Amino acid sequence: MNSPQEITITRPDDWHVHLRDSDALSKVVGHTAFQFARAVVMPNLKPPVTTTEQALAYKARILASLAKVKLPIGLKGVGFAFEPLMTLYLTDTTTAAEIEKAKGAGIVAVKLYPSGATTNSDSGVTDIRKTYSALEAMQRLGMPLLIHAEVTDSSVDLFDREAVFIDRYLIQLRKDFPELKIVMEHITTEEAAQYVQAGNQYLGATITAHHLLYNRNAIFTGGIRPHYYCLPVLKREKHRVALVKAATSGSPKFFLGTDSAPHAAHLKEHASGCAGCYTAFSAMELYAEAFDSVGALEHLEAFASFNGADFYGLPRNTGKITLRRESCQMPEYLAFGRAKLIPLRAGEALPWRFVS
Ligand code: NCD
Ligand code: ZN
Ligand code: ZN
Repeated sequence: MNSPQEITITRPDDWHVHLRDSDALSKVVGHTAFQFARAVVMPNLKPPVTTTEQALAYKARILASLAKVKLPIGLKGVGFAFEPLMTLYLTDTTTAAEIEKAKGAGIVAVKLYPSGATTNSDSGVTDIRKTYSALEAMQRLGMPLLIHAEVTDSSVDLFDREAVFIDRYLIQLRKDFPELKIVMEHITTEEAAQYVQAGNQYLGATITAHHLLYNRNAIFTGGIRPHYYCLPVLKREKHRVALVKAATSGSPKFFLGTDSAPHAAHLKEHASGCAGCYTAFSAMELYAEAFDSVGALEHLEAFASFNGADFYGLPRNTGKITLRRESCQMPEYLAFGRAKLIPLRAGEALPWRFVS
């Protein structure tokens, strides 16, 4: 498959998305549900989703919000048969009993935010050893640990925080819990790609569309561009190239996670702008572009639709989606209550279109 005009693949899943809550949820949930059969929903709400009860209540709000979304006019769409896969936010005090309860209630994974690493991570983990009884339960139950893998040590250069996390924490953590399933979320560096590639079957990684398409120049082209700012921050070109190589390698260890993270435009275009890129609106179009750029569209289906499900031990989807090589104009902005939401590539033309 070199450069086909159209591709049809098994309906994909998004293994890392931020759907937020309340009004914001109602504005974004349809975008994810339109393209994906399932999505792993991040728990970094305010307050964070730390208990099974909160996760189930959040799931009910997501489904209730989705029920009110109308299919975009003119699009055939695969409908909204969408399953949110819920996660718990790990804290220093998460108990093994809470993990067992979560597993019993169908919560699929637990998210580790080092305290202070990213948006709404203040309640995150301050010392990984404090979480060991929870991690022991997760290992026993086969429940994946999803990690925002960056150190928070301010003496470490921002661009090195992911690579340093591997050396300072991940190597030891994997020794202490050799059969704990771990996903390095939204990897951004050659070091992470190589580390995951070299790991065993208990280690996987998600990769975003924006880290496949952009390097850090995007944040500074002709002025500071807040809509390209996310965490972990975009890196040098050699890292982008390494991520593209990993995603298109056919390795089952890498899978799709958009990390689509909506923030109101005025909070990104700010003296202290929020981190996060909004890609859910056109996620599969962006991934198709990235895979096509290296002539590797034949590997998109496994990356988007098989590898994540296999890693989590969930069934693969049965429906299909079709993407066509056809210019597709992105809106300048999306409605976001009284604010605006600026999707990645706002106002530009995308080379791929989501057909159905
Ligand atoms: C995410 C958010 O806004 O919730 N932001 C981001 O830049 N990726 C948090 C996260 O995934 O780290
Ligand atoms: Zn993160
Ligand atoms: Zn995220």
